[in-house]
Amino acid sequence: MKKIAVIPGDGIGIDVTNEALKVLEAMKSNGAEIEWDTFDYGADKYLETGITLPDEEVENFRDNYDAIFIGAVGDPRVPDMKHAKDILLGLRFKLDLYLNYRPVKLYIEELCPLKNKTIEDIDFVVFRENTEGLYSGAGGVLKRGTPDEVAIQTSINTRKGVERIIRHGFEYARQTGRKSVTMSDKSNAMRYEGDLWQRVFEEVRQEYPDIEAGHWYIDALLMQMVKRPEQFDVIVTCNMFGDIATDLGAQLAGGMGLAASGNIHPGKTSLFEPVHGSAPKYHGKDIANPLAAILTVGLMMEHLGFAEWNGRIEEAVLEAIRTNNVPRDLGGPLGTAASGDFIARQLV
Ligand code: NAD
Ligand code: IPM
Ligand code: MN
Repeated sequence: MKKIAVIPGDGIGIDVTNEALKVLEAMKSNGAEIEWDTFDYGADKYLETGITLPDEEVENFRDNYDAIFIGAVGDPRVPDMKHAKDILLGLRFKLDLYLNYRPVKLYIEELCPLKNKTIEDIDFVVFRENTEGLYSGAGGVLKRGTPDEVAIQTSINTRKGVERIIRHGFEYARQTGRKSVTMSDKSNAMRYEGDLWQRVFEEVRQEYPDIEAGHWYIDALLMQMVKRPEQFDVIVTCNMFGDIATDLGAQLAGGMGLAASGNIHPGKTSLFEPVHGSAPKYHGKDIANPLAAILTVGLMMEHLGFAEWNGRIEEAVLEAIRTNNVPRDLGGPLGTAASGDFIARQLV
């Protein structure tokens, strides 16, 4: 039996998690050995109690659960994102979830905003380093609120952190039959971290002569993702560049309504969340597309050892897209709940 901790979070995170839960129910009723508990961490709890995510709960997740599912966090009433930082970045860092796995996969040609691109052209994965870089929280301010104010945000890159994400890119390529790994950095301008990424990439690639190794500076990478996305199989990059590249990637494959992701430490309790945020203006209006969350459940099932359920979820989503049983961001007529019902019906 695999145990899942579910955190709906804020905004449409709550709406799409309702639908993800229908999918969990459907799989369970059809024999999947899963169970879950729901946790109410998010902006409401933080504003009422000051509690974001206690350390004991992180330990509880680590020791007693196999995976965590989060809808999304972020609320305009918490402008500094204090709770989201503790919940989302807190779990990524404290559970050492160094792989942010974000597949970019076009399900049907019509969903691609680029001209003349096929489903074969837009099919790659991004591994975003998820525990270091500009996200590490290193830095500080001096003389805040004065004309002499100084703000410093430091990018931390460790040999270990850079090596494990790059190595995983090559391992993944080898295991899944992908031809190439493309590393992206900004080593032409950011000398110190760029030098480390370059040297480690050069070293690790020697161990994988069967996999092509490529490189683009991040500005050029984003341009190439639009110009010639078919060249990419596996992209490996740092935390910040990966964040940016995966919003663009999401749009290449039909938008935020379909983009799924996993925050993974192989063999350990890992965290799954759609790439999109809490889109507060859509919350509670039966508008948000739950398919990204549902595809994310698929990635989670694969991680838990139930790859066949991931396959079935993907097939159900493809069927929904083909038959236009999708929400309005994909040009369909369904609301959030009906979209989730459509998928759940196909899984029982
Ligand atoms: P967002 O992803 O919430 O929304 C941007 C736009 O994308 C929306 O206005 C909407 O048009 C579209 N969109 C996103 N998800 C959709 C869905 N499921 N169905 C239909 N349309 C969808 O990004 P934002 O507006 O920049 O951020 C809102 C809040 O969410 C902020 O507080 C931000 O920090 C937070 N955020 C959280 C996460 C997370 O928890 N993983 C990720 C990104 C942003
Ligand atoms: C994401 C989000 C987060 C990030 C925010 C909410 C901190 O944009 O998961 O892509 O930047 O990692
Ligand atoms: Mn993002």
